[in-house]
Amino acid sequence: MISAASGIQGQRFSQPVDGPTALVDLPGAVRPVSSQNPNRKKVLFVTSELADLVKTGGLGDVSAALPRAMAHLHDVRVLIPGYRQVLDSDNPIHIIGELGGHAALPPCKIGRMDLKDGLVIYVLICPELYEREGTPYGANNGRDWPDNHIRFARLGLAAADIAANLAQIHWCPDLVHAHDWPAGLAPAYMHWRGSRTPTLFTIHNLAYQGVVSLASCPELGIPEHALQQEGMEFYGKMSFLKAGMAYSSHITTVSATYAREITTPEFGCGLDGFLASKTQQGLLSGIPNGIDESWESSTDPHLDHPFNIGDWQGKAVNASHVRKLFGLDESTGPLFAVVSRLVYQKGLDLTEAVAGFIVENGGQIAIIGRGEPEEEQAMRALALRFPGRIGVRIGFNETDARRMFAGSDFLLMPSRYEPCGLSQMYAQRFGSLPVARNTGGLADTIEDGVTGFLFDESTVQSYEAALARAFKVFAFPGLLNAMRCRAMAAPFNWCQAVEPYAELYEQLVAKALGKSGKV
Ligand code: ADP
Ligand code: GLC
Repeated sequence: MISAASGIQGQRFSQPVDGPTALVDLPGAVRPVSSQNPNRKKVLFVTSELADLVKTGGLGDVSAALPRAMAHLHDVRVLIPGYRQVLDSDNPIHIIGELGGHAALPPCKIGRMDLKDGLVIYVLICPELYEREGTPYGANNGRDWPDNHIRFARLGLAAADIAANLAQIHWCPDLVHAHDWPAGLAPAYMHWRGSRTPTLFTIHNLAYQGVVSLASCPELGIPEHALQQEGMEFYGKMSFLKAGMAYSSHITTVSATYAREITTPEFGCGLDGFLASKTQQGLLSGIPNGIDESWESSTDPHLDHPFNIGDWQGKAVNASHVRKLFGLDESTGPLFAVVSRLVYQKGLDLTEAVAGFIVENGGQIAIIGRGEPEEEQAMRALALRFPGRIGVRIGFNETDARRMFAGSDFLLMPSRYEPCGLSQMYAQRFGSLPVARNTGGLADTIEDGVTGFLFDESTVQSYEAALARAFKVFAFPGLLNAMRCRAMAAPFNWCQAVEPYAELYEQLVAKALGKSGKV
């Protein structure tokens, strides 16, 4: 049994405050415009990453962008664990509530952080679980924390507690929107408690499932009846991700193509049958991600040389900076970029295999990312094989990533699967044409031969055929620039996602209240 949380120490928190009304007018807090929407709902967004504070990939970007994009329609607030990066951010945290423990899940506190633009963050404060050096999921050596099942069960239970008004934070959601396996137990605990608050579960990546041994059942306070096929049982174990899907009122994923793909054995990660039956019942749909307004090449403060559509000289200046940053030779050939988590999903072994082809044809590659130690090592080795032609930086920072999208001619994204993918949209917005596998959100956001190059098979042959087309286009500046113009003008934004999410929220709440709802 895990001991109770040690008290909150240090000066980082002010406590207590007189309930949330004391916080509404915090200095500097710009409230989201109160809208005319008569159906405005209170939505708790439960996530393990938020780009403002901590992120390892696209989930962090989406968690930061979507609540803001919806602020004019719904009151969306975010619940996130109090990792060290969250507690150490410059934003003050006010303790507003406390939650009791349950089974081996320790008690915790709820802090409130108001970001400058008015986004309200509820921080789950439990130092023994979250305040560690590393990423949200593991130590800096890439190993997952052994108690992740406790850490994220605590997150799910906190969401359920807030929904049941147990935290007494004077704000109770009409709907809980949980994301990926770390938040998977939120709908589950709510269901087991008989909560009538509707829940939406979004799959950002089906391959990460949070699978734990059945022996953890008592520690997490999971009822035995949950351990069946319609519940969270998964091939003799328990899956947090399956719990999220099994117990939520509705499931979404982040592109239409991926929503179809995951109902097939090739992409279903053992859950295709389960998901196909959800689709048949009308309980699974795809809503594509967007990108936020900061992706504007003419104003981006991260760029040494912001540029407009058509200013290809300006783009070339950015290319020159990237070459310097990565120790690459001066060149008039094409510059390819890899901006990626270095994991199996992203098909980096394929890029390794086509690197010789790219270099022989006069191309160069700049690679930034971090991830699995073996993948990192393989990328380092690639740079050593082709000095001056391939440069690698292991690690990640937003400024370099943005400079790479701006400076490169092409983005390499040979993902084995891609639920949505944001990098290919960022690249297009900055005039870098993606060379990508024809799957998931890549298939939905890249127009082959118009805004990028798609290839069908996860093979070197298929990849090289797309690269050969990219080299051909590069040799004809008129054609290259026409494609850049189309890519930079592609209408990626959150509008297309906001409406379907907003409608879904309203329908799910109406249905839960017994009013007509189409869902
Ligand atoms: P995924 O979420 O699968 O990594 P996306 O394309 O949806 O893929 O999102 C990638 C986002 O994460 C982009 O904002 C990208 O710049 C950023 N990113 C890429 N690699 C890393 C990394 N190693 N650490 C943190 N963020 C990264
Ligand atoms: C996941 C997926 C990625 C998606 C992101 C945000 O990390 O791998 O394709 O864009 O989540 O939804």
